[in-house]
Amino acid sequence: MKILVLNGPNLNLLGERETEIYGEDSLVDINFSLEDTYPEVDFTFIQSNSEGDLITWIQNSEGENDGIVLNPAAYTHTSVAIRDAISSVSVPVVEVHLSNLFKREESFRQLSLTAGVSKGVISGFGKFSYFLAVEFFLRESS
Ligand code: DQA
Repeated sequence: MKILVLNGPNLNLLGERETEIYGEDSLVDINFSLEDTYPEVDFTFIQSNSEGDLITWIQNSEGENDGIVLNPAAYTHTSVAIRDAISSVSVPVVEVHLSNLFKREESFRQLSLTAGVSKGVISGFGKFSYFLAVEFFLRESS
């Protein structure tokens, strides 16, 4: 099983940035831990601050990956272009967020433009949101 774990803007700062919201683990910690936990999965880990790069990775996943675990970060709330990229491929996307978007104070965070074209959304379980998404792909394929 090939899974692309795709992370959007500012997630390269995990472990340093607003740790009370996003936790103490760095993105590298999370990625290592996913690899350790699921040795049977062939992971590709990508983080980009650029909307266009994220779109290209989603487009290029067609025929390449069995699933995408996507944290679009702030683009969740703004990007029609990422939404369209998800709609354009047949690869299933599970949207993940470390924080619970519906508990956040800023109301704009409660809107996801990408959720409606994703297979599902996992939000609020910290780093475990990523693990739950991988579990979904493994269980669905078994
Ligand atoms: C986030 C939530 C977004 O609102 C925010 O812009 C992020 C991280 C999360 O994982 O909780 O950068 O996607």
